[in-house]
Amino acid sequence: MSEYVIGIDLGTSSVKALLVDREGNVAAEASREYPLHSPKAGWSEQDPEQWVEGTLAVLGELGASDALKTGVVDGISFSGQMHGLVLLDKDNRPLRPAILWNDTRTTAQCREIEARLGGKLLDIARNPALEGFTLPKILWVREQEPEIFGQAALFLLPKDYVRYRLCGTIRMDYSDAAGTLLLNVPERAWSAEILEAFGLDASLCPPLAESAEQTGVLLPKLAEEAGLRGPLAIFAGGADNACGAIGAGILQEGEALCSIGTSGVMLSYESDRGRDYGGKVHFFNHGEKDAYYSMGVTLAAGYSMSWFRRLMGGLPYEELLEGADQVPAGAGGLLFAPYLAGERTPHADAAIRASFIGLDGSHGRSHMARAVMEGITFSLNETLHMYREAGKEMSAVISIGGGARNPLWLQIQADIFQVPVTALANEQGPGMGAAMLAAAGCGWYGDLRECAAAFVRRGRTYEPNAAAAEVYERLFPVYQQVYGATRSLSEALMTFRS
Ligand code: XUL
Repeated sequence: MSEYVIGIDLGTSSVKALLVDREGNVAAEASREYPLHSPKAGWSEQDPEQWVEGTLAVLGELGASDALKTGVVDGISFSGQMHGLVLLDKDNRPLRPAILWNDTRTTAQCREIEARLGGKLLDIARNPALEGFTLPKILWVREQEPEIFGQAALFLLPKDYVRYRLCGTIRMDYSDAAGTLLLNVPERAWSAEILEAFGLDASLCPPLAESAEQTGVLLPKLAEEAGLRGPLAIFAGGADNACGAIGAGILQEGEALCSIGTSGVMLSYESDRGRDYGGKVHFFNHGEKDAYYSMGVTLAAGYSMSWFRRLMGGLPYEELLEGADQVPAGAGGLLFAPYLAGERTPHADAAIRASFIGLDGSHGRSHMARAVMEGITFSLNETLHMYREAGKEMSAVISIGGGARNPLWLQIQADIFQVPVTALANEQGPGMGAAMLAAAGCGWYGDLRECAAAFVRRGRTYEPNAAAAEVYERLFPVYQQVYGATRSLSEALMTFRS
């Protein structure tokens, strides 16, 4: 009888599940979309029940697949969108819609956190106070919705709530807990100091778990409804960025991960918990025990490309990008700064907005398309640049997500990053990292590295082109000036935003 694991990726727009065999081949996959609600400008919320419904639906679809007519599922694990606040009452029922990672309502709470904790925040939580993180969201609910907060018994992150509904056990793994600002990241424990500083009860925080730790089994009723058989062990899983890194085999220093989804990430494995970037990049616990990763985030990466596509009447990507390969590096003097939703790295600024700089009457759609790809890549290069300045050299970049689906964009990455850029042969995103956590948890492999050696297959490598790299080397400092030059303009325009 064939054995499988399931990796569930609970994303921002959809939940995707992969059925993976012992060799890392995907035997079946399924996905369900769910809406994102924005009741006010800058707000971003989702209904946790829709995550659960979507997850049960994808499990049912896998259960009906040919592979599972005879096969069994040894384990299930998760990758989750980070930071989202799911506030539960004493019966573990959500008290309000979840407030997501890309919600920017909490600027005042971030300033309050900085004022109260000062330098301690970086020492303990290893990250600055950013609107997207969870603690500011908790403080916002306490201030703005005191009657709801009064009933709050516990908080979870998105995939932890779904996991609870699937197996009945409350847990949060370290890699996701690291994005709450309540975890002592190097010590791997909830920070009594931070909780106390804000008068929060420790009982609000769930018990912690390793990513590959078993937290239960799929509830028998749900297993039957989904048509799934097997041991069906459930493992804690990890934050989507940790799982993306695992799925791309980023389990040692030296190679960076460039992931372009809705948001974009430049990420590096960190073996030393004391490594100090002064809060310029995020520093989180990895899904591998006792390991860490650092990363910079571009809030509107793939989102900038899909915005541009929408603007161009929803053209298929092939048509949208047609001719962009004929436009020389530098897009004919056109620069795009991808701040459509504010920015995180290196400028943590919820108010900054995007711009095209240098538009000329001769520019067409292909120039703009190229400038959008270059601008997103420049933004991610800020993190690579910072690593280099901190003395951390990267020998290669593994590229995943939307940015890895287009050969031109991969070449632009190699030319801007000035290192070889490799795509994966069978890229599956964070869902594969989740499946690997289940495979390691089940004992299919001794550890995640062994699993990665079997599961992760590298595809084509793009070498930097010297002439283009030289152009980008000169253009990058110009790009870096756009933020400072447009900051006060963005601020002045803020009052005109609806
Ligand atoms: C990371 C972050 C995003 C989300 C996307 O800090 O906010 O990458 O994890 O799901």
